[in-house]
Amino acid sequence: MNNAHNILDSNPFLQAIQGKKASKTPIWLMRQAGRYLPEYREIRSKNSMLDVIRSPKLAAQVTLQPIERFGFDAAIIFADILNPLIGMGIDLDFVQGEGPKIFNPITSLADIERLKLPSPQENVGYTLEAIDLVASKLKDTALIGFSGAPFTLSSYLIGHSKDDGFSKLKTFIYQDFKRWDLLQTKLVSLVSDYLVAQIQAGANAVQIFDSWVGVLSQQQFCEFVLPYLKQIISNVKLATNNAPITYFGTGTSGLMPYFKQLGANCYGVDWRLSLNDARALIAQEVCLQGNLDPAIMLCDWQHVEKAALKTLEDSRMISSYIFNLGHGILPQTPVENVYKLVELIRNWK
Ligand code: CP3
Repeated sequence: MNNAHNILDSNPFLQAIQGKKASKTPIWLMRQAGRYLPEYREIRSKNSMLDVIRSPKLAAQVTLQPIERFGFDAAIIFADILNPLIGMGIDLDFVQGEGPKIFNPITSLADIERLKLPSPQENVGYTLEAIDLVASKLKDTALIGFSGAPFTLSSYLIGHSKDDGFSKLKTFIYQDFKRWDLLQTKLVSLVSDYLVAQIQAGANAVQIFDSWVGVLSQQQFCEFVLPYLKQIISNVKLATNNAPITYFGTGTSGLMPYFKQLGANCYGVDWRLSLNDARALIAQEVCLQGNLDPAIMLCDWQHVEKAALKTLEDSRMISSYIFNLGHGILPQTPVENVYKLVELIRNWK
């Protein structure tokens, strides 16, 4: 049914995420299935974002596109962090040129009380089916499942814009902690069950995306975010015989000293911080993933090469390491640079 166990020891991504020295430096790229690929744009020209996510066949096809082209060490199942919110009663769409839009954002305790908690099978059975399909097609490549983290999901549920400094979200938290706690408790349940179901469907590892957590102070992170993340990670570990987990955020240098308490296997590092500084801040021998600036991928190859070699050199100091970008690959990225990047990593000693 799935390839979950037979590659745990031989796939370099899975070796590294489990804290081992990999046989070669593993590489995959966040948002590797996406608009920089002409074959993805072709599918999207005929299907909406939600149509692709909800069709196991299309989602599987799009997941495999970057694997077929570049031979990455891991595939990430095609979905979005937001579509699982639909089953909670959230009216969501991906608007062309604008990104995700929520038509009934949360504004009150009653809105939170109304949120439903369907099982992953009822809510996102299509993604679980896509995972099963992809797992049956992969041989040596690992499959990553994922979810948004409660804080980042909440930032969409309550609303945030690039220029409000997340003030709407922060006032929502501060005004009434009980209300926040109920929302987080519901999201802990949604996210834990979703991650476990993905592992059971055939994913070899999971990543928790907390893209906007870096807007919080250390104290805010410890009080409003950390306890819920800990709960999720412990739930998933318990239910899956310790499946490997990556926690990813951006702008997290202030938060890294607290990561030790989370208990994940691997942490994402964005481009703002060197791998060595991240390692010092996290102060634990864990796997790190990152951290090439996605903007550099738009430059001429010589610049990409120089920056990627610097990252690789830095990674010599890290006990286990997964090459990636510091955030998702940008839609304008030349495909040629991705080919060359993979070749560079493969030939690096
Ligand atoms: O290849 C993969 O990485 C798997 C698929 C994936 C998508 N979104 C597909 C997608 C993953 C892992 C995500 C995660 C995601 N989605 C995050 C966390 C990672 C990050 O980049 O910070 C966030 C914050 C979202 C929410 C989201 N979805 C935004 C803000 C947008 C609009 C911006 C954009 O990139 O277009 C989306 C849409 C989206 N999700 C696209 C894709 C491929 C583009 C949709 C299209 O085809 O037009």
